[in-house]
Amino acid sequence: MRYMDIAQKRAQSLIEKQSAVVLGIETSCDETAAAVVKDGRQVYGNAVYSQIPVHERYGGVVPELASRNHVEQLGPVVQRALHEAGMTLKDIDAIAVTACPGLVGALLTGVSYAKGLAYAGGLPLVGVNHIAGHIAANYISHADCAPPFICLVASGGHSHIFDVGAYTSATLIGCTRDDAAGEAFDKIARVLGLGYPGGPRLEALAAMGNPNALPLPAALRDSLDFSFSGVKTAVINYLHRMRSRGGNVNYADVAASFQHSVVRALVDKTMRAATMRGAALLTLTGGVSANKALKEAFSKRTEESGLRFFAPHPRYTGDNAAMIACAGYYALMAGQLAGLDLNAVARITYAR
Ligand code: KG4
Ligand code: ZN
Repeated sequence: MRYMDIAQKRAQSLIEKQSAVVLGIETSCDETAAAVVKDGRQVYGNAVYSQIPVHERYGGVVPELASRNHVEQLGPVVQRALHEAGMTLKDIDAIAVTACPGLVGALLTGVSYAKGLAYAGGLPLVGVNHIAGHIAANYISHADCAPPFICLVASGGHSHIFDVGAYTSATLIGCTRDDAAGEAFDKIARVLGLGYPGGPRLEALAAMGNPNALPLPAALRDSLDFSFSGVKTAVINYLHRMRSRGGNVNYADVAASFQHSVVRALVDKTMRAATMRGAALLTLTGGVSANKALKEAFSKRTEESGLRFFAPHPRYTGDNAAMIACAGYYALMAGQLAGLDLNAVARITYAR
């Protein structure tokens, strides 16, 4: 029998049982990750190899280095995830891999690896959208999180507000017109000399500063879209001005004011989206959802408005493969199988 016939037959029996042990693989940026997840919700094994030490000295991710490092690390990382689960490849029912969006060379390493495993084992293969993976991070963190809800995905590459109608469908209702929130954190962290990755370091510095010290502009007030270039430029201009005058700059105040301004934009627009769509549940996800000021602001505002609110467990805020296996499980149950012609796609555009 041909691979696709075998995979389809296996997928059909998994759908009938509504049960599958999925091996997830994630290599879209600078984390090499693998995870074993049962029925979309029970994480048996979760391994993440962070490439931060590889890229740190360059101040950002170097795509070629990321791809080479993924190739080296994928095998050991998959073994670690299986070992943690107390399983071997024989126990795996299906493979889910991030196929878009991300660095194309980095994505390709995971996609090729996953295709090899699927072909060798005659296993169903699912291509997962990385952003759908981030949305799924709340399913593995909270047993009672289920669609419909409004979700803010705030990461290094995305600031997207989705209306999540079902496990396999989400409508984009707002997104950034320039930098993503995490990207803005990283850039301001760099001008403050905090190094890479900037988000967590900027948050730590902000905790010691006054969030109202600098008056910073708020962009696109009447839209669900974000723009962070104005606030970024305002901070950079302020630093230039102060330095050229030889004045003393309180970096903690700058970090706190910048963070306050980004948090306000993220919370205001997502809350407005929830009201417009009549949502009862709001979720936050992505690397920036590790930020305590952001989580606290969302907790407060959702409580005031009578909305339920979920943010991922700290293990699942940044890139990981458990969220990919989870999203892959729901796609598999919806019959969304990929063939061996699955390809990596760097960018995707959403209909709005
Ligand atoms: O989701 P993620 O790991 O990768 C992408 O898909 O982009 O997100 C990484 C981003 C980086 O920009 C990082 O600086 C930011 O998340 N980040 C934070 C914090 N922790 C990570 N930003 C603000 N505060 C944090 N605590
Ligand atoms: Zn991500």
